[in-house]
Amino acid sequence: MGPQIRLRADGVTPAGPTVWAQVVKGGAFRLDAAALLRRNAEEYGDLVFFKALGRPVLQFNHPELVQEMLVRDAPHHHRNLVMQKSKAVLGEGLLTSEEPLHMRQRRLAAPAFHRQRIATYGAVIARYTVAMTGEWKPGAVFDVRSEMLLLALRIVAKTLFDSKFDDEVYAIAAAVDSFQGFLPLAFLPFPELIQATAIPAMRRIRRSRELLDALIYRMIAERRADPGDRGDLLSMLLGSVDEEGGRMSDAQVRDECLTILLAGHETTANALSFAAWLLAGDPEVQERLGQECSETLGGRVPEAADYARLGLAERVFAEALRLYPPVWVTARTAAEAYEHRGFEIRKGTILVAPQFAVQRDARWWPEPDRFDPDRFTPEAKAGRPKFAYFPFGAGSRQCIGEGLAWMEGTLALAAIAQGWKFERVSGERETMRVDPSVSLRPKGPLRLRVERR
Ligand code: HEM
Repeated sequence: MGPQIRLRADGVTPAGPTVWAQVVKGGAFRLDAAALLRRNAEEYGDLVFFKALGRPVLQFNHPELVQEMLVRDAPHHHRNLVMQKSKAVLGEGLLTSEEPLHMRQRRLAAPAFHRQRIATYGAVIARYTVAMTGEWKPGAVFDVRSEMLLLALRIVAKTLFDSKFDDEVYAIAAAVDSFQGFLPLAFLPFPELIQATAIPAMRRIRRSRELLDALIYRMIAERRADPGDRGDLLSMLLGSVDEEGGRMSDAQVRDECLTILLAGHETTANALSFAAWLLAGDPEVQERLGQECSETLGGRVPEAADYARLGLAERVFAEALRLYPPVWVTARTAAEAYEHRGFEIRKGTILVAPQFAVQRDARWWPEPDRFDPDRFTPEAKAGRPKFAYFPFGAGSRQCIGEGLAWMEGTLALAAIAQGWKFERVSGERETMRVDPSVSLRPKGPLRLRVERR
């Protein structure tokens, strides 16, 4: 397993920043909580203890500890506070639900994410990406993240609902975006009262919810009236039956669809945006990628069967997910008191495994801030602990869309790199500033130039 777990303090109990130290670095917490967790790991070792929101927090920074938290000790945990608050919008979908409902839903949804099923989505991913680049003009400068968000939304609409969303795509993108504004409100005192008020942000969120509910219930009603497999996720969700012969209710299907719509598009769009920015900063890797794609595809649109031969495209996506994990921290709440390596974890303690810190730890990733897709060749991967890299989480709550995300990231990058390259714009963003809110995203617009290769 390599280096031992590092503990500060008396070598048994975890150490960590005092509340005062957090206040002093406080700006940092507000400005970039991901960087603060990374600094905690560097300063206090593999197990860090501090207080936030008046609660004890335990931060796990070693792959062995990450595995213990996410896999071994999972039965002691509940969803984290953010997920608990998100129920007001997402209902009881896969992200927010607790056991035993979660396991039942997960079994019902699993066939929709089966490998063979995902292969059928390859064509959709490639076709939409090619349609997107078909609109690009050489030398154009634009916000790559907005472009990737629309692409990912169109892909999820087609794979989930067999729908193009057509004219609705911009309204849906805006509605999804406004949900991000919900969480800060949910953490204020008396959230139910705030949710019932007419403040503009709350009105916008309610309107977004109505729009998305109307859309999803309309799709469900159409399918119930004309059942059958349309090759999309919704058909699978409506058609799946559990061991007792039970099916999902409309409300349950709505919760799952909204969850997948939200969880499945912004994460992938952010990862693709970060990948574009990293490629723009490394012309040599970008050239190698272009060559690989041209040789493998010979000018045709990629398909699922090409995935295995697009090794560098996959490694570029993997490295983007390492440096800028869209889910930058995984959190849980201790549902009961339990013992961990000789000390007591109290009920209510917040437990965090920060992807952003572990995936930039020099013990597993030499020169951790450097972009180097070849860290993911089979030889390079061989000596590294499994849980030094966990952009899709682990255990029973591991991302159900992981296979789809790999397919989407790899085929979209290949479809782009075959004909286009990204360039940074001089005088603009020299370094990447991130905004670690619900997901990790670039702070402000991510403007890049596109040129033909
Ligand atoms: C690069 C893209 C993506 C990343 C980095 C990502 C990351 C994650 C992570 C880390 C989790 C676990 C959260 C936790 O343990 O609390 C998760 C869960 C989940 N993801 Fe993803 N995800 C991505 C794409 C997708 C896609 C494409 C879909 C669906 C189309 C999806 C649907 C979900 C769902 C439904 C869950 C909840 C699973 C459960 O609790 O059983 N994700 N994702």
